Amino acid sequence: MGMDCEQTSAPQRRMAASPPDVSAQQALGLMQMRRTVRPRNMADSAPDVAQTALILEAAAHAPDHHRHGAWRIVRVPDSAREALAQAFVDALHERDEPPTPECIERARIKAFRSPLLMLMVVQTTAADGSSSLAENCTAAGCALQNMLLMATAQGLVSSLTSGGTLQSRSFRALFQLSANEYAVCFVSFASAAACALKPGPVRPDVPQYVSTLAASSTPHVH
Ligand SMILES: Cc1cc2nc3c(=O)[nH]c(=O)nc-3n(C[C@H](O)[C@H](O)[C@H](O)COP(=O)(O)O)c2cc1C
Repeated sequence: MGMDCEQTSAPQRRMAASPPDVSAQQALGLMQMRRTVRPRNMADSAPDVAQTALILEAAAHAPDHHRHGAWRIVRVPDSAREALAQAFVDALHERDEPPTPECIERARIKAFRSPLLMLMVVQTTAADGSSSLAENCTAAGCALQNMLLMATAQGLVSSLTSGGTLQSRSFRALFQLSANEYAVCFVSFASAAACALKPGPVRPDVPQYVSTLAASSTPHVH
């Protein structure tokens, strides 16, 4: 089941055992504070260099099975926004229905909304076949959550955005994705929201997503 215990050196063991600087309640508080602020509701100012560096470093502390680099992040600087806008428009033209001028304008605008914009890309399988798309997407999700929480900890706002456009030929070409790569979602950050936020979503209660395997369960094959 791959649940073997790795050998750790004495200093590593001591580090793992020492209490963290942050309390469990503070950690939970940070998670409860994080919420999606859509790019269209973001103020037009990006995190500064130091804040951005911490967000990017946070990603490195996520679990990554086999340490083979299941994911990578592509930053989209202001200088590349026009090219991104064109890729959004080109993706519309790849569809069966010709886009209306309004659709084209809406698509273009999306490229300029997020003050700090990045794309999360995963490998569909490891080069040596040691990991699956599910594992790689999980690793990427862990990295993304680290980034979102680091943004929240710095008083920034953030969001993830996905959609069919990411799999279009135009996007794949712009981001130079290899045949072995899959664009999961954009991640956006801004220094603040542009407007007052509505109440966030109601979180599920633990019993809604947790069950316990019964010791006497009879296995059945579907
Ligand atoms: C992989 C992924 C893709 C997402 N894509 C979008 C998106 O395209 N548009 C959007 O408004 N929200 C998107 N979201 C954000 C969710 O809608 C949001 O997390 C959810 O509504 C819960 O709100 P919260 O983040 O404030 O807890 C995405 C979230 C995930 C995990």
